[in-house]
Amino acid sequence: MPDGFTSAEERAAFIAALPKAELHLHIEGSLEPELMFELAQRNKVAIPFASVEDVRAAYAFSNLQDFLDIYYQGMGVLHSERDFYDLTAAYLTRAHADAVRHVEIFFDPQGHTDRGVAFGTVIAGITRALDDARTSYGMTSKLIMCFLRHLSEAEAEKTLDEALPFLDRIDGVGLDSSEVGHPPAKFERVFGRARSLGLKIVAHAGEEGPPAYVHEALDLLKVHRIDHGNRSLEDPALIARLAAEGMTLTVCPLSNLKLCVVNDITAHPLKTMLDAGLKATINSDDPSYFGGYVNANYQAVADALDLSKDDIVTLARNSFAGSFLNETGRAKHLAAIDAYAAAA
Ligand code: HPA
Ligand code: ZN
Repeated sequence: MPDGFTSAEERAAFIAALPKAELHLHIEGSLEPELMFELAQRNKVAIPFASVEDVRAAYAFSNLQDFLDIYYQGMGVLHSERDFYDLTAAYLTRAHADAVRHVEIFFDPQGHTDRGVAFGTVIAGITRALDDARTSYGMTSKLIMCFLRHLSEAEAEKTLDEALPFLDRIDGVGLDSSEVGHPPAKFERVFGRARSLGLKIVAHAGEEGPPAYVHEALDLLKVHRIDHGNRSLEDPALIARLAAEGMTLTVCPLSNLKLCVVNDITAHPLKTMLDAGLKATINSDDPSYFGGYVNANYQAVADALDLSKDDIVTLARNSFAGSFLNETGRAKHLAAIDAYAAAA
């Protein structure tokens, strides 16, 4: 029996309605095969799949690059403001169903501008859906623009220039794509400029890359959060540092399984992270590609690692505490979690 619950079913019900924030979600990775087909038809884009089943069958990856190849191909169906709206609205509906109260969404502008889609078109569609979710669901959001690390720093600088007219809608910058061989140091200057513009800073580090990349993200990019961070566990001094600094890690269990960062979900280090005092959170990363939205991620680790009620409450609390909401917003959600846990 899981600690704090009378059955595994009771734990599942507790997770399902637990108020939570999602802090690591690539909006382009929420493109479900059904919508991919619809948009391919709408925009007369050829895709190399005959059916939705064909698409799902192609989602077998042995590492990050395997996934990225198909992820960049998939986003090629996105062209108009309406496409970005539909994509984002579909994700937000799913998140709302998972009791997500606040989202911090990544987008990859270079994946679109490099295909001739205007930066403003991407922003307009995404933000219209975010605004609607605030009205319809009371869901709040932040938007984080990621630089593709396999491209040059000069290209990231150009993307930051393109973002300047839209900084009223962009809250932070991140770093994603192929990690190994593209360390945070490669982007030190552009992140410095982003900081001077008042943007929040995050970076994927320690997903496939070594602990040294996590150190660099902290020291050179001066991140407010680390995305993934799994390989930090190989470096005891780094674990101690992350714990002492209260650094949030946005962990993505089903992503880790699908990209072979872990061999088996029962070997996932989430519980080890919590026990080491790290501020881990649970997130879905690219839910369409990795087989589940945020609640499915909570459920997978809860079952595999037999998480207690205290563990699950800690994870949800970490998600708001590590968010870019202001102090009042964070406090409101933390109180709601405590009330929910006390009543359950
Ligand atoms: N890692 C790096 N880049 C990405 C990911 C990820 O998990 N998802 C989308 N882009
Ligand atoms: Zn990611």
